[in-house]
Amino acid sequence: MYDVAIIGGGPGGYAAALYAHNFGLKVALVEKERVGGTCLIRGCIPAKTWLQAAHVFSVVKKSSEFGVNSSEPTVDWKVALDRKNNVVNGLVNGLSGLLKARDVDVINGYGSLKNRGVEVALSDGGTQHIEADNIILATGSVPRSIPGYEIDGERIVTSDHALDWEEQPHRVAVVGGGVIGCEFASLLSDFGSEVHIFEALDQLLPGMDPEAVKPLERALRKKKVKINTSTMVGPPELADGGVTINYGDGKSVEVDVVLMAVGRGPVTDNVGLEDTAAVVDRGFVEVDLATMQTAQEKLFAVGDIVAATPQLAHAGFAEGISAITFIATGEAAPVDYRAIPLVVYTHPEVAQVGMTEAQAAANGIDVVATSHGMRGVGRAIIQGEVGGTVKVVHETDGPIVGASVAGPGAGEMIHELMYTVAWEALPAEAAAYIHAHPTISEAIGETLLSASGRSLH
Ligand code: NAI
Repeated sequence: MYDVAIIGGGPGGYAAALYAHNFGLKVALVEKERVGGTCLIRGCIPAKTWLQAAHVFSVVKKSSEFGVNSSEPTVDWKVALDRKNNVVNGLVNGLSGLLKARDVDVINGYGSLKNRGVEVALSDGGTQHIEADNIILATGSVPRSIPGYEIDGERIVTSDHALDWEEQPHRVAVVGGGVIGCEFASLLSDFGSEVHIFEALDQLLPGMDPEAVKPLERALRKKKVKINTSTMVGPPELADGGVTINYGDGKSVEVDVVLMAVGRGPVTDNVGLEDTAAVVDRGFVEVDLATMQTAQEKLFAVGDIVAATPQLAHAGFAEGISAITFIATGEAAPVDYRAIPLVVYTHPEVAQVGMTEAQAAANGIDVVATSHGMRGVGRAIIQGEVGGTVKVVHETDGPIVGASVAGPGAGEMIHELMYTVAWEALPAEAAAYIHAHPTISEAIGETLLSASGRSLH
């Protein structure tokens, strides 16, 4: 008899399993593949490894601007792919070792809810019934497509396939200009591929601050990426030479491969939810956000399958921790969703925390926004990366409710603004602290000074 059985070994599930150790809980973790989930195996980690390779390539390409001459760099795709696999394998092995060290029983097979326990179709044959006081469902998500775009893994692909491309594709259409679409457009264009993005809404990264998205759009355009916003695509035409995409008013383009990046859907079919009291809405599981418990007592859901919370690995970690804390202590320890950062690892990076001006307005909150560009920031000039901006959004005469950063290191810098949002700091309180000079983070200091009514530069 286990205290907790977890179905799914991605960030939500494995964080719950690891954290349970703090309370001495006996845990079974059921996983049909290797542990790590989308994030480690076919998401965050491999994608960022490719982005890093693309970044290194683009830095070497422009090294002569810094007086460092080298021969024209070339891409050895196979080496980059091997490095990606090594990074992934190293982290998966490390995680397996950590789970073992924390006495988590990892059971390899397909798990589903049955008779208040978990029935596992074991990967090496047979079934095993696991009895547990509590069950956490953490089955994650898979890429979606749209009608007419049947995923064949070769010419119409998702990020699952793109991360394992054995050769560089030369002409790529990316359908969906959200996080995945922009990250792939960024890395492929750094490597010199021809890229066309088709986004249904009126800007890339819909929902993010338009001012923060602009430096990315500019950088992509500079790399000759064709950005088609407010654009729907017609059905693809597959021929020997490639795929033709029809779009807009009679326009078309031929590419070698189409990458679908139109969102990810929850994996909640065939896991036995229909025999429980849990409420499922369009595949997403509804939970009490204070405890992550579903409408069925002692059945919890965390990660990408949870309704109305972000599909982010770090949100999954936090939800796993929240569920385990409630199971172990009976006390609710809710995730603070107000201050979860979102980082898009494009070049330049775009990051955001809390509310944008538009979201504040939609919530009836009166706000003031203050921004500061990177053009005058010494370290940004030194690095040759001045395309960026910081924006801080605060209530009129009140605390900071949101912020965004675009530019070099945005994904790291956003965390200082995370604390200002979480701790409801006033701009003047946050501006009282001194940033080291020269740093890119000084742009945050400058923005906070201006937001508190006294600008410096
Ligand atoms: P997304 O929701 O970020 O973007 C999908 C985009 O496709 C949207 O902009 C949407 O307007 C557009 N779209 C939908 N249907 C369309 C159509 N028929 N034609 C043209 N455009 C269409 O989803 P994405 O990029 O697939 O990512 C899935 C999830 O994974 C997201 O929740 C994302 O936050 C997460 N993720 C997070 C990353 C990070 O934190 N760096 C990296 C990659 C994914």
